[in-house]
Amino acid sequence: MIELQSIIFRWRPSDCPTLHIPQFEVPQGESVFISGPSGSGKTTLLNLLGGVVVPEEGKVTIGDQDITALSNQARDTFRVDNIGFIFQQFNLIPFLSILENVTLPGHFSSQRRQNSIERSGSLEADAKRLLAHMDLDLNELEGRAVSLMSTGQQQRVAVARALLGAPRIIIADEPTSALDTDTRMAFLDLLSKEVEAVNATLIFVSHDQSLASRFKRSIPLEDINTAKGHQ
Ligand SMILES: Nc1ncnc2c1ncn2[C@@H]1O[C@H](COP(=O)(O)OP(=O)(O)OP(=O)(O)O)[C@@H](O)[C@H]1O
Ligand SMILES: [Mg+2]
Repeated sequence: MIELQSIIFRWRPSDCPTLHIPQFEVPQGESVFISGPSGSGKTTLLNLLGGVVVPEEGKVTIGDQDITALSNQARDTFRVDNIGFIFQQFNLIPFLSILENVTLPGHFSSQRRQNSIERSGSLEADAKRLLAHMDLDLNELEGRAVSLMSTGQQQRVAVARALLGAPRIIIADEPTSALDTDTRMAFLDLLSKEVEAVNATLIFVSHDQSLASRFKRSIPLEDINTAKGHQ
């Protein structure tokens, strides 16, 4: 489902490469945990997988598509159609309601809108279904500003948004860092269950090595990234 080949990425031409990844593959439906200390390039790797940035050398293949060969606009469309992002800071939109935040990808991607409608009849119904699966009671939270929700609640809204319209890939950037241990484990269970239910491929990065045991496959970033001296 995901393949990186002979990747070299640097943020500025004068920098040493942040990433040099000769080869990395993730099959469809697999959940992979990638660990590494702060500044080691985890978020950079996710940006590369999502086509937010492109490498100076090498190919990033998602499904059958080499996304480095697409125009910027085609890559943006490809991303929103195929990838659900859970960001380090959630990136919920403060002036939208909870429901509007979750339905957002359906407004940018006709493919995901269609998937949601097929699944639940409408975008809103699908968003409500996902919020309920995330143990969020919309009746109770109705009218609440997203910024006034607890961190754990915001996290679950961010997951519902990433899952809306069943994208083939879920990318999660350290989404558990603000949670206590019990909540973190419950959150990971919920995320894994939802990802498995739609047979999505999950890439989850964190500096927290203790989460590794929750995943079938766990890789230190330094095992695939041979770039040295980028700090
Ligand atoms: N937009 C950017 N412009 C220039 N350099 C950047 C940019 N983003 C990240 N970097 C650099 O790339 C390197 C890797 O950063 P990255 O954010 O990928 O690390 P990380 O592993 O996600 O760290 P953390 O665990 O703190 O989130 C760092 O040296 C950082 O300074
Ligand atoms: Mg990061």
